[in-house]
Amino acid sequence: MRRLLSALFAFTIFLAAPAWVMAADTAHGGQVFSNTCAVCHAGGGNTLNPDRTLQKADLEAYLTNYGSGHEAAIAAQVTNGKAPMPAFGDVLSAADIADVAAYVESMSSSGW
Ligand code: HEC
Repeated sequence: MRRLLSALFAFTIFLAAPAWVMAADTAHGGQVFSNTCAVCHAGGGNTLNPDRTLQKADLEAYLTNYGSGHEAAIAAQVTNGKAPMPAFGDVLSAADIADVAAYVESMSSSGW
């Protein structure tokens, strides 16, 4: 039982570690957003498709896998794109994507 508990503990640390190493930097995410996303999503809107804004209600309605993890779902859309939104997986680093996802999550939960 003791061994099982320590194995579980170690596994939990293992799962949590990437979050410590890559704690998202929302302020930097805001800069990434201004440089890369605001051309289409200024103020959380969407100039190309006004039904797909970054407001919480639209993320809930349209963003794939949003229900199972907000930042992960945003990061997936940024990495892979979704036509006509371009993919940024080759343009932004994983850290930039994590930061901009944290920024979008924070802004959408406060209503932009
Ligand atoms: C060239 C314009 C453009 C740029 C630049 C762009 N997007 Fe988008 N984005 C779109 C469009 C268009 C959609 C809707 C796609 C669809 O039809 O589902 C979208 C959808 C999204 C969604 C899902 C919204 C919803 O309601 O379904 C998220 C999240 C998102 N973009 C985040 C970002 C982030 C973060 C960046 C910057 C890294 C970014 N986008 C850059 C055009 C853009």
